[in-house]
Amino acid sequence: MYNGLAVTPQMGWDNWNSFGCDVSEDLLLNTARKIVSYGLRDAGYTYVILDDCWSSGRSPGANGSLIANSTRFPNGMADVADRIHDLGLRFGMYSSAGSMTCARYTGSLGYEEVDAQTFADWGVDYLKYDNCYNEGQSGTPLITYNRYKKMQVALNNTGRPILYSLCNWGEDYPWKWAQTISNSWRTSGDITDFFDRHDPRCPCPPSNGINCALPGFHCSAMNILGKAAPYIDKGIPGSWNDLDMLEVGNGGMTDAEYVAHFTMWALVKSPLVMGNDFAKLGGRDLSILINPAVIAVSQDPMGAGAFRRWIYDVEDRDGMAEAGTIQMWSGALSGGDFVVALLNAGTRPRMMNATLADIFVDSGAEHSELAQQSWDLYDLWGNRMPEEIAAGIIGGNVTLGAGAANVTDYYYNATAKS
Ligand code: GLA
Repeated sequence: MYNGLAVTPQMGWDNWNSFGCDVSEDLLLNTARKIVSYGLRDAGYTYVILDDCWSSGRSPGANGSLIANSTRFPNGMADVADRIHDLGLRFGMYSSAGSMTCARYTGSLGYEEVDAQTFADWGVDYLKYDNCYNEGQSGTPLITYNRYKKMQVALNNTGRPILYSLCNWGEDYPWKWAQTISNSWRTSGDITDFFDRHDPRCPCPPSNGINCALPGFHCSAMNILGKAAPYIDKGIPGSWNDLDMLEVGNGGMTDAEYVAHFTMWALVKSPLVMGNDFAKLGGRDLSILINPAVIAVSQDPMGAGAFRRWIYDVEDRDGMAEAGTIQMWSGALSGGDFVVALLNAGTRPRMMNATLADIFVDSGAEHSELAQQSWDLYDLWGNRMPEEIAAGIIGGNVTLGAGAANVTDYYYNATAKS
C-alpha cells in the first residue's frame, strides 16, 4: 500500500460517462446532494470526481497555475471542494500526464509540482491522471512509470492525502509497475454502455476484442472484464485494477446486464465509480448501485479479487461460437467465506452449473478439503430492494435511517441453503 488510501477499492461518481465536457459546479453539487439523499454516500460512494474540461488554461508567467473556467465554476474550485466536504463527501479532479488532456485542455506534464500544489490548495482529495498528449513519453513501462511518478512525488510533497488514480488504458502494462506509485490504474480503453462485444451496436467488434486495450477503442463491459481477467491478482489493498466507471443507469444495457456488470466490478475489486445522470436514474438502477451485500464483497477487508476459474464458448442457435460466453469466477473473502459468480457474458439464456471442486480448483492444496465440506449459500441478489421502495427514495418519499439501515435490510436477509 503506497499512501494509506484506497485500502478497499474507491467508490464515488464521475461525470464523464454521462456528461462528457458539460461540467459545472451546479452539476457537481446537485449530484453530490443526490448521492447523500439517495443513501449512496452512506453505502460507501464518497468521491465526487470532476473529469476533463474544467480549466481555462494557466495564469500568466512561467510557473502559471491552472485556472478553473469561471463561467462553469463561478465560485472557484476551493468553494466547490468546501461544499462537497460539507456534505461529508470528498472531491476528485482530473488532469493528464501530457501537454493537453484528452479533450485538449491544458495538461500537467512539466507542471507536476505547481499543479499538485494547486489541487492541494483547493482541497482536492483525488486525482485522476490521464495519458493523452504525452509527447512521446510512452511505449515502455519505464518511460511511462517515470512520467506518472513525477506527479506521485509532487502529490506526496503537498502533505495532503490525495488518492492517485492512473488512467493509462492498460497501454504500458500498469499492473506490472503501478502498485508502488498509485492507488489504481485503468486496464483498458474507455467503457461504453454496451454489455457484450457481440451486440451488433457495440463499437468494438468481436475480432477486435483484444484491441480494446488501446486508446480510441471503446469497449463493452464484457470486453473490459475479459481484458482484465489475467491481471486480477495484481490488485492489492491500496492499489487496484480499474475497469473504468460504471454504466449502471445509462440505458444501454438490460437490468440483468447491469446486475452482471456491477457484480463483476465488485468481485474483481475494481473501483466502483458511478457514471450516471441522477436525473435519469430509475428505481431498478438505484437498487443495483446500493446493494449492500455486493458492496460488502467489493469492500471486504481481505481485498482479494475473484478469479476466473473457467470460461467456455457456447454455440448459438446458428451454430456460431460465442467466444468466452459462460464463465465461473470465485474468490476468497475474510472470515473464511467465498464468493462465486456464474457469469453469462453473452446475450442469450444459458444453463450453467459449478461444482465445489470447480470453485476451489486453483485455491491450493490446503483448500482441497474445502470442496468436501458443506456450505451455506447466500444469494447476494436474493432479496433485492423492491423497485417501489427504490423509486420512493428517488422521489423523496422514503426517508433513510442512519447508515441507510433500512436499505441494508432488503439484502442481508437473503435465503441460506446448505
Ligand atoms: C480519456 C479517459 C476517460 C475520460 C476522457 C476525458 O478518454 O479514458 O475516462 O477521462 O479521457 O477526456
